[in-house]
Amino acid sequence: MKLFDVYPLNNITITSAKGARVWDDKGQMYLDMYGGHAVISIGHTHPHWVERIEEQLEKIAFYSNSVVIPQQKELADLLGRVSGKENYQLFLCNSGAEANENALKLASFHTGRRKIIAFKKAFHGRTSLAVAATDNPAIVAPVNQTDAVIFLPFNDVDALRAVFNAQGKDIAAVIVEGIQGVGGINVASDEFLQTIRELCDANGSVYIADSIQCGYGRSGKFYSHDFAGVNADIYSMAKGMGNGFPIGAISIAPHLHPKHGMLGTTFGGNQLACVAALAVLEVIEKEGLIANAEKVGTHLINALKEMPELKNVRGRGLMIGFDLPDSHKELRKVLLNDHFIFTGEAKPNVIRLLPSLGLTETEADEFLSAVRKEILVPVG
Ligand SMILES: Cc1ncc(COP(=O)(O)O)c(C=O)c1O
Repeated sequence: MKLFDVYPLNNITITSAKGARVWDDKGQMYLDMYGGHAVISIGHTHPHWVERIEEQLEKIAFYSNSVVIPQQKELADLLGRVSGKENYQLFLCNSGAEANENALKLASFHTGRRKIIAFKKAFHGRTSLAVAATDNPAIVAPVNQTDAVIFLPFNDVDALRAVFNAQGKDIAAVIVEGIQGVGGINVASDEFLQTIRELCDANGSVYIADSIQCGYGRSGKFYSHDFAGVNADIYSMAKGMGNGFPIGAISIAPHLHPKHGMLGTTFGGNQLACVAALAVLEVIEKEGLIANAEKVGTHLINALKEMPELKNVRGRGLMIGFDLPDSHKELRKVLLNDHFIFTGEAKPNVIRLLPSLGLTETEADEFLSAVRKEILVPVG
């Protein structure tokens, strides 16, 4: 049987990892400024995370949501405290798309409505409603096409007001990333998020904060949406939540009420996944990783802004993007092949940095000197 060939691959086999470093099967070490697509929050194979998972594995890995799973309650308590939303409610699932799918479904159940507002360049996942709210026709299959989603320009307060004025009472939800990731690192303005809050309140709609890539401390706050000083009704999360162990969730405001059978999953919230997520939060707290993301991120952003060849350096904390000039559009490949540094990309010419929240300034400097070296070399 062969693999279904949907991923363009780098011909690299990673066999071990530690912190912000990975090693391939030939023993070559790499600096991971990509974090396996923003998944590595506390660092690869963090000893506390390994120990917690191993310990749990010896006891029980999985039982379904037909019995009490105390680890779920522990996780809800700790997540509530670390995220500063102690009165919210937790629903656990397995991935980012599934988190958004449940968030959108819950908003529709709650309001009895079927219209969703999403934004240009948004990415919310690949399941049916999540992909319908994603601004990329190439990944929307005919069966996913729907008139339920209205796409508006990102950060455009007037466009938002105009749609709410015309059909506010049809809008079930507004779904928005605090910092667009796949779309190229575009930061939502405070005014934009405050207006979403105001219009959702005025019309009884649900504000969904997609925190799957920008959440979990990456921005220097637990949820990057919280820079705007207003709460969302639902926060969706995954990626950094398990540091590589598959787990997703939605954190739900108290006024949204559950009903038995309304949402559900077989695997979501299993003992092993909960313990992996607990270990992540314990390390985030103990090692002050949110403050570190803010500190090392600011150091990176300031240094990148001093390189005039790099355009539009942007982001928050350790979620950073910059545009490459045509003369250096191969920089990402060069960093990987010549400097052994993984970075992310966004089409057409953006480098995206999404490293572990424990990245040190020394590691950041290693990346910066590689970039400096390459952009100072005349091309051609
Ligand atoms: C903002 C955002 N939402 C949702 C998703 C989907 O997450 P998953 O791939 O875990 O389904 C992603 C994945 O990149 C994402 O960046």
